Amino acid sequence: MEVHAEDRPMRHEELMYAVEGKDGILCLLTDRIDGSILHKAGETVGIANYAVGYENIDIEKATHLGIMVTNTPGVLTETTADLAWALVMTAARRIVEGDALVRSNGFRGWAPMLLLGSDVYGKTLGIVGSGRIGCAVARRAIGFEMPILYYSRHTCPEIESMGGRAVSLSELLARSDYVSLHVSLNPESFHLIDGDGLKEMKSSAILINTSRGPVVDEEALVNALSSGIISAAALDVFENEPDIHPGLFNLPNVILAPHIGSASRETREKMAITAAGNLHSMLSGRRPPDLVNEAVLSHPRCTSITTS
Ligand code: DGY
Repeated sequence: MEVHAEDRPMRHEELMYAVEGKDGILCLLTDRIDGSILHKAGETVGIANYAVGYENIDIEKATHLGIMVTNTPGVLTETTADLAWALVMTAARRIVEGDALVRSNGFRGWAPMLLLGSDVYGKTLGIVGSGRIGCAVARRAIGFEMPILYYSRHTCPEIESMGGRAVSLSELLARSDYVSLHVSLNPESFHLIDGDGLKEMKSSAILINTSRGPVVDEEALVNALSSGIISAAALDVFENEPDIHPGLFNLPNVILAPHIGSASRETREKMAITAAGNLHSMLSGRRPPDLVNEAVLSHPRCTSITTS
């Protein structure tokens, strides 16, 4: 077994070298497993991604080559929803600005107009994407008695059972006080929130993104935040991680978190166990629990994979 023990993403040429001759690979979302890496991986049976999102892997190519790919669904749902909720509260009540004020010795005592934020209780929450994490965010909104709107390709019985209503993206953007993004990244969700979408939002609205950076047009967001088109944003993900749009750094009305949605000790341990379990199944000739490319099972290389 070979382990990349350094706490930094591997460079493409390092990955090219590392995957050669390996029976299985456990990779991170920062590892870009493109066609060239997959070709080099050659006889690899499967790739276990240590993340629920897997847009870092060329799934079509992996399937074509008969390589199984797995992810870590479920185990990070609640932790990521917690972070989304933390960002809602932090942005609404301007906690980061308050912390900076106190640390810089600028706090002169209680004042009626000091750092006025927005209520969360009773405000309308718009959830974009009604998968596991979107639903978990909706559950948290119940305690805050928030009307819920959601936008999704599918009807979500769980959100509907909480009184949530499916609406078009335009309606969601126009009516929500908080818009929280929970879609996976794919060609349809790329720049789902663009300049036009931001203009549809209320000027008092707050945008939360814990999904994937490219879902939001970052340039358009900088413009919207600096010109008052929306009130604030809280971002855990960025369009070109780890690079951040320089325009975001100077804005007081944006919170910048370093992609820590699933970063609790408990959840990272569960993600590791899940990814390792998937890898073990694949190496043992069994269908892994979290296979994302079902179609691979009809590849001649996978005909002996068992389902037990
Ligand atoms: C994922 O698993 O896709 C998350 O972004 C990692 O925290």
